[in-house]
Amino acid sequence: MVTRALDVVLLGPPGAGKGTQAKRLAAALSLLHISTGDLLREEVAKNSPLGQEAASFMQRGELVPDDLVAKMLLARLYTQQGLAGCVFDGYPRTQAQAELLDQLLAELGRRVDVAVYLEVPDGEVVARLGGRRSCPNCGAVYHVQTKPPAREGLCDVCGSGLVVREDDREEVIRQRLSVYRSHTEPLLELYEKRGVLRRVDGLGAVDAIFARLKEAVKGSVAR
Ligand code: AP5
Repeated sequence: MVTRALDVVLLGPPGAGKGTQAKRLAAALSLLHISTGDLLREEVAKNSPLGQEAASFMQRGELVPDDLVAKMLLARLYTQQGLAGCVFDGYPRTQAQAELLDQLLAELGRRVDVAVYLEVPDGEVVARLGGRRSCPNCGAVYHVQTKPPAREGLCDVCGSGLVVREDDREEVIRQRLSVYRSHTEPLLELYEKRGVLRRVDGLGAVDAIFARLKEAVKGSVAR
């Protein structure tokens, strides 16, 4: 039972299972799940001005500029005040984003309580993303081998046709991994120095990883 706001950052390479685990963690602890990737894809699908600007960066596997992502994050954080806290999935991804997140949370009297690093090797990342199928309507995520939908190609939740994300092509996956190494991985050190980093083995069954994740989060909060 969470008695004060709890803010959790999920870190890890593309395909580490951040989205899969973030949704479960948020539901289990009654936290708001904020995925900047999902928010950006919504903007692209709406063809909004922000989505139009973001689309080409996403297709190339590059980071969307910090100021665009910040606008979206701000809108989401400030319309959802009063909640028990957030699971940040895919944010922060740069030093500047980490600083902005600290500032925004401080204004709300909160802080990053725990940053969890889901550790998954590159070979597994490529296998996971190569087989991912996503629902463009409700955002549900599947995998052709490890989590196939009941009816091939159709979402179990809303029945829409499943798609391969444009950035799940192998050459774009490699680029996303390289961007992750250069811009996002250095944040591990930042949170480690602060004493809030927890490393969780991201290999194995989704349920087993979730149990480890929950343990890591609850252990940090109890300290
Ligand atoms: P984003 O959507 O955040 O992509 P990502 O970080 O690359 O992460 P993914 O969504 O690819 O993977 P995941 O770790 O969530 O894994 P999942 O659970 O789906 O960002 C996309 C783009 O948007 C970026 O490249 C960038 O352009 C832009 N962007 C987003 N945020 C930004 C920011 N803050 N700043 C700037 N730009 C930003 O799992 C993957 C697959 O594996 C699924 O098929 C799943 O079913 C399967 N799977 C999950 N767990 C397991 C398991 N234990 N065993 C086997 N299979 C598993």
